[in-house]
Amino acid sequence: MSEKLLEVKNLRTEFKRDKSWVTAVNNVSFDINEGEILGLVGESGCGKSVTSLSIMRLLARNSKISNGQVLLKGKNLLEKDNKEIRKIRGREVAMIFQEPMNSLNPCMRVEKQITEAILLHNNFSKEQAHQRAFDVLKSVGIPEPEMTLKSFPHQLSGGMCQRVMIAMAMSCEPELLIADEPTTALDVTIQAQILELMEEIRAKKNTGILMITHDLGVVAEMCNRVVVMYAGRIVEEAPVKELFADSKHPYTQGLIGSVPKLGSGVKSLPSIPGSVPDLSVMPKGCKFAPRCKYAMDICREQEPELHTIDKDGRRRCRCHLLDQNRKEA
Ligand SMILES: Nc1ncnc2c1ncn2[C@@H]1O[C@H](COP(=O)(O)OP(=O)(O)OP(=O)(O)O)[C@@H](O)[C@H]1O
Ligand SMILES: [Mg+2]
Repeated sequence: MSEKLLEVKNLRTEFKRDKSWVTAVNNVSFDINEGEILGLVGESGCGKSVTSLSIMRLLARNSKISNGQVLLKGKNLLEKDNKEIRKIRGREVAMIFQEPMNSLNPCMRVEKQITEAILLHNNFSKEQAHQRAFDVLKSVGIPEPEMTLKSFPHQLSGGMCQRVMIAMAMSCEPELLIADEPTTALDVTIQAQILELMEEIRAKKNTGILMITHDLGVVAEMCNRVVVMYAGRIVEEAPVKELFADSKHPYTQGLIGSVPKLGSGVKSLPSIPGSVPDLSVMPKGCKFAPRCKYAMDICREQEPELHTIDKDGRRRCRCHLLDQNRKEA
């Protein structure tokens, strides 16, 4: 049996906008086991990055985590002080950021940025750290690691910076890797190579991975389970095969329904009519109701709860229609 590596429980993250607080992540709970890849999907603005930054404790200043726990092997990361959390970051949990250009230090050569983390977490000499940095750059497909090590981020292309970020995250072989759109800016060959590398690390080290992506092909290929978010909430969770074969939430159905065939080259989430609600003017009941073709009166009045819908407790769904059908069955 694989152990629970990460348990996110009732996480709520808010941002201050003008003078009031808006909730970007609302009562989110999920687990990742050792060696498991959990996919996190949903349209732009649904709270995927805020969830991952909350886990890493790397949120912007105008934010607060107002509820919940983030347990990494039972330790609540939300209770750690800054010094403790710095030791955990990199070694135990590392993140590949969605915006590599903004996440690398522009004034520091790549070598210093990578070796700093390696030296902080390992008892290495400078030469050993250099060698590890060289090896890890090579493993993410950087053709001239020595030259890249000597460069500043602005001397590298966006794709190169993204690979440097990935190399940094992998350099200390963390137990949990959070990958926020790790391969979006990369061309297909490099993307395949990076995903393969992530899979290798997972297999070798039993790393748990939170994979945030818009690419349903990546989800189908890489993930064991999937969590679907909408408007800061989880609306559905299922093992990957079941999600694609038999999704229960109308939102998930919208996301995957019009993908003709996985692997056929369709890369992005297909569009659903309407748009994601603004955080400061959320509809009263189900947040998806204004866009849902099945919406009933109750959907506009009362927010549905996230219910477990199977015997094994592996599937969850937040939908009145499903609740009604289950009651009638
Ligand atoms: N620093 C911030 N201040 C105020 N609001 C923020 C801040 N960061 C994020 N938000 C808001 O939180 C919500 C969730 O944003 P988040 O970045 O998590 O979306 P996402 O699911 O990662 O989207 P994408 O797929 O585009 O990356 C959005 O409404 C966004 O505007
Ligand atoms: Mg994001």
